[in-house]
Amino acid sequence: MYGARARREVYYTLPANRGIVAKARHSQPTGSFSGNSRWAQCGFASELGTNHLTGQTESLFHVLDPRQFSRAQLDELCVLTTKVRTVAKSHQGARTLQTLLASRRAMLYFTQPSTRTFLSFNNACHVLGIRTSEIRDPSTSSEVKGESFEDSIRTFSSYVDVVIMRTRREGMAAQSAALMDRIRRPVPIINAGSGRDQHPTQALLDIYTLERSFEAGGGIDGKVIGLMGDLKRGRTARSLAYLMKNYSNVRLVFIAPESFRMEDDLKANLRDSGVEFMETEKLGEVISDLDAIYVTRLQSEYDTEGESSGFDHTPFTIGLDEMQRLKADAIVMHPLPRGPELHPSVDTDPRAMYWRQERNGMWMRAALLIKIFKVEDQID
Ligand code: MLT
Repeated sequence: MYGARARREVYYTLPANRGIVAKARHSQPTGSFSGNSRWAQCGFASELGTNHLTGQTESLFHVLDPRQFSRAQLDELCVLTTKVRTVAKSHQGARTLQTLLASRRAMLYFTQPSTRTFLSFNNACHVLGIRTSEIRDPSTSSEVKGESFEDSIRTFSSYVDVVIMRTRREGMAAQSAALMDRIRRPVPIINAGSGRDQHPTQALLDIYTLERSFEAGGGIDGKVIGLMGDLKRGRTARSLAYLMKNYSNVRLVFIAPESFRMEDDLKANLRDSGVEFMETEKLGEVISDLDAIYVTRLQSEYDTEGESSGFDHTPFTIGLDEMQRLKADAIVMHPLPRGPELHPSVDTDPRAMYWRQERNGMWMRAALLIKIFKVEDQID
């Protein structure tokens, strides 16, 4: 039983004016963009800034929130990711990629723990020749001397061409982007995870993983995607769910216990966007309907009153028994790190996509940087 459809959301605007797709300078006939007939049918193509001749979307600057992305941009990023991944396979290609952004510098400001996002951004930069500096522990920066967060970000921007940041608190990437929009030498801000709220670049790599996995099966459109675990506090599930308004007839199944259900703001957004969803605590009742299951861990670092203690993972776990009930062509994803909710015995099943998902992150983040610095035309 899926939630009722409502009106479709047309456009999302962030407070920082550079974070969104710029509106098209010229109104184009919307029916002629062949890469995505859905946008054309909806008549949104010109509003979303798609160049109907090249299929390229307008440029990206800040990356703050999954809601800023259009279908045209997602499609373009997926194509670009495949191109980077393919080009990087040969020595010659890898060398070419290394020259693409060799004059650029990036700051990795990660004050919340990270393994994959940090390493994949760092390596994506290196793939493209971007030199990186990092702060991972705020106790080693002038913040301990009382320097304000905004002054710290402005200082980073004096030395680099892009700031990639992960913070424990929500809203700090947007705050940094708003600061950049007020100064004379703004640099793009990339949100690499903001508290419990958003993880837009994870959502992009998840979209790429889904597209790649369903390449022969019509892509993401029309798929039934389960999101399971701590959906209340897991930013990856939130961000991925937000992107689903860009795809036709996707149905989401939220599988979580009462205490960790998806938040109401996200569900309201899905209703407004016309994305169908249902909620259940019973994995067994839906597992055989799923085309993908996106498993997440308990976000115990956000506990305030021991919410996670004594939690019984058993009903929200994927192991060999659950794999037997999953469709033969369905996939299992996980943003990692994992806890007991995903048994290592699943790792060797060809439907386990999380290690590929992890590697896709590096390629997608490289594609994103290429798009931000507008060098996509130099790859061919
Ligand atoms: C994240 O940064 O949100 C993750 O990679 C997923 C998690 O920590 O569960």
